[in-house]
Amino acid sequence: MAEHDAGTTIRLGYRSGINVTRDGEDRWTLRQVDRHGEEFCRVDLVKKRMRVGRSRIPTGGVSGLYTPPIHRAKGYASCLMEASHDFLRRQGCSIVLLNAIPGFYHRYGYDVVFPVYRLFVRTERLLQARRLLNVRRARKRDEPALVKLYNQCNRYRTGTLVRNADWRFTRLVDYGRPPGKLLVVEDKRQWVAGYALCRTRRDCYFVQELTARSSSAFESLAGAVGTRARRAGFDRVHFKLPVDHPFAEFCNRLGSEWEIQYHVNAEGMGRILDLPRFLAALRPEFEYRLGKSGWSKKTCLWFETELGAAGLKIVGNTARCIPNREADSHKIALSQTALLQLALGYRTVSDAAIEKGVRIPCTARPFLEVLFPPSPAMMPMVAE
Ligand SMILES: CC(C)(COP(=O)(O)OP(=O)(O)OC[C@H]1O[C@@H](n2cnc3c(N)ncnc32)[C@H](O)[C@@H]1OP(=O)(O)O)[C@@H](O)C(=O)NCCC(=O)NCCS
Repeated sequence: MAEHDAGTTIRLGYRSGINVTRDGEDRWTLRQVDRHGEEFCRVDLVKKRMRVGRSRIPTGGVSGLYTPPIHRAKGYASCLMEASHDFLRRQGCSIVLLNAIPGFYHRYGYDVVFPVYRLFVRTERLLQARRLLNVRRARKRDEPALVKLYNQCNRYRTGTLVRNADWRFTRLVDYGRPPGKLLVVEDKRQWVAGYALCRTRRDCYFVQELTARSSSAFESLAGAVGTRARRAGFDRVHFKLPVDHPFAEFCNRLGSEWEIQYHVNAEGMGRILDLPRFLAALRPEFEYRLGKSGWSKKTCLWFETELGAAGLKIVGNTARCIPNREADSHKIALSQTALLQLALGYRTVSDAAIEKGVRIPCTARPFLEVLFPPSPAMMPMVAE
């Protein structure tokens, strides 16, 4: 598929009535059409790389699923979701994520894998921060430095996407109405030291993304955001950041409020598409975690899910994926979503263990606790 030019429509060989259009690199639209070309249902797909600590997971993103009202309740969306999974698996994705409407995607094997974090800081508190560095609107020529800064500052942050050198912030700025404002803070040598993507919302001033490499850059951005929020008439600012983000920690000393939502069957949901590939992609982070814990034991973990089974052979701080169960392995029975929740740090091992249908032998728990520590990760904007 990848060799087709952007905008080309081709028939998917494996399923009649579904067309795929390539909309750009690693970006597609799947449409269900009849032989006259009438569209019954459509969905947009992307392929990204998402970080889980030091690992990069090939991740599919689903958005814009739509069936026109006259064609609803005839099974078109279900058929297209199944085709989307098949398509993304063929593109090499081992998991898939989406931002879900409530009560719908469970039927396609999805569960909630990220909480929603909202940080609120009063505008007057932000205005107390010292403006140590210059803050200005971003220019086109800042883009490569901004992408580099984003990747550097988030290099081990679970839930962030790897942005290629040609990725452009204009995508995010123009996503949503009104378009955002991208503020850049420069250090004394006039190098980009941080940025904040801000926009006005109905009820508050919203900072969609913020990255900076020093505390003076944090202070300067806080002051600049506060100034713009005051100018727009808002007495508080909503930052979209996870609780362990360094800017969020900085805001705690200004006085901050958190809202953390754990949804049921809505918002940041995901599922595994390819179990062996998923475990193999996690290997660098597994080995880092084993090394950090000083683990020196030898064991085999065998994961049995509704998608099939796969194993991990651990010797000291090395972890190797194995396709066949070894005689002395610990058998762990759990759903593919429970495994994804563990891998993304959404749930603890002890919480997953008490779920119906999950079987984790006591002897395997210490290994799993090293491999799957909890982490306050946030859902990436997969369609970016
Ligand atoms: C959601 C939507 C895509 C479903 O399309 P569809 O072609 O009617 O779906 P299907 O016929 O395949 O129905 C699948 C199942 O979902 C259920 N369902 C349909 N729309 C639903 C909704 N909005 N909320 C919850 N469940 C819904 C159906 O009852 C059916 O249930 P069943 O499998 O138990 O019989 C369609 O209603 C739509 O386009 N809505 C507006 C856009 C939207 O919200 N998209 C989702 C973006 S995340």
